[in-house]
Amino acid sequence: MLTSHTFPHDFIWGVATSSYQIEGAWNEDGKGESIWDRFAHTPGHIQDGSTGDVACDHYHRYQQDVALMKALGVHAYRFSIAWPRILPEGRGSVNHKGLDFYSRLVDALLEAGIAPYVTLYHWDLPQALQDAGGWPARATADAFAEYAGIVARSLGDRVAHWITLNEPWVSAVVGYLHGRHAPGRQALDEMLPAAHHLLLAHGWAVPLIRQIAAHSQVGIALNLSPHTPASRSYADRRATYTADGFLNRWYLDPLAGRGYPQDMIAHFDRPMGFVLEGDLETIAEPIDFVGINYYTRQIVRSEAIPPQDNAPVEAVRGQNITEMGWEVYPEGLFDLLCRVHFDYHFPALLVTENGAAFHDTVGPDGTIQDGKRVSYLRDHLRAAARAIEAGVPLKGYFVWSLLDNFEWSYGYTKRFGLVYVDYQTLERIPKASADYYRRVIAANRVVE
Ligand code: FCB
Repeated sequence: MLTSHTFPHDFIWGVATSSYQIEGAWNEDGKGESIWDRFAHTPGHIQDGSTGDVACDHYHRYQQDVALMKALGVHAYRFSIAWPRILPEGRGSVNHKGLDFYSRLVDALLEAGIAPYVTLYHWDLPQALQDAGGWPARATADAFAEYAGIVARSLGDRVAHWITLNEPWVSAVVGYLHGRHAPGRQALDEMLPAAHHLLLAHGWAVPLIRQIAAHSQVGIALNLSPHTPASRSYADRRATYTADGFLNRWYLDPLAGRGYPQDMIAHFDRPMGFVLEGDLETIAEPIDFVGINYYTRQIVRSEAIPPQDNAPVEAVRGQNITEMGWEVYPEGLFDLLCRVHFDYHFPALLVTENGAAFHDTVGPDGTIQDGKRVSYLRDHLRAAARAIEAGVPLKGYFVWSLLDNFEWSYGYTKRFGLVYVDYQTLERIPKASADYYRRVIAANRVVE
């Protein structure tokens, strides 16, 4: 079908980052320790031995970064707030210098005509709360509501878009089951209550934010993937359904008011006593949008049924692979947007993250020609445009990421930015993909 791949006139074009990955200033102005500070400071956890102590030094260079975004022409900036900057001990006494930083950032964004999309939790839990049990403890959800209220009271007069949590699956599964992320735990009996308390925290925060910041839009960002069986065998198909339950349905179902999927409760076969009366109603609090972070699809074999780590299946996936080892599969974004909309009917969807890591180098002329990233973005934007044409209420798209940054357990070895960061000098150099994205935004359509 011939299509112009033009976006609706009010489509939101944005870029995304997160606090620990870019801010640095890990112990400045009264900030408390986070689980990521502790995890990265412990040798053996991060591939290149690095930490987020300095990262992109965004804490001190935010004005320059806002200017970079203004030059791109983005309408919106999705960033996260470091909880331990606001509440160094997780709850209790408030660090006003922490709030002031985000207040200055929000003012600078508004001044530049950029709408702030605030994520309250992108994985940097105050270490004090982890010491008290972390997400497997129900009290952490309670502390989150306290924290959400404090931030909403401080920024709610200027921030109209809120994302409670980034990727609760990653927090729960990679942090408490696979152990590759902070706090590095490996226990199914911690993962399940952690996932529940994350969703509960979300459910408590939604009405609170709305009450404080009237007229604001509140949602959550989920890492979702379409799943493909590795073969047509019954066993692979069955495993695919379970893998989908593990990553997608375990979060989408309760958010949509359906409770936890029964097949998955049976699959985990663990006590679910942490689900108390009323919790499922809390989690199902209506939201204004679901944010989708999409990178690739999952191909599933019956030998690797989750909660096991699911290794990529070489024989089935395409040859086009990013530096993360993730298959480039733009059709998956179309499939996923359609599936989430037709199955769940949330009022709106946003692509809150999409992007790719490639091996970027500064050429002799000082430019970064990241043609593979340009192709990745172009093909995924086409998929997004097709989904809108198919009737999906997709309202915006955020590139991950504005800047190259600290890619969690990979340290600084993976570059996702539209803007290159020289980690010696902290100089920022927009890549060819930044210019490409600028032209897309200006034209409000997929440009070639
Ligand atoms: C997502 C995270 C984001 C970034 C990208 C590559 O899972 O939300 O912080 O690491 O992956």
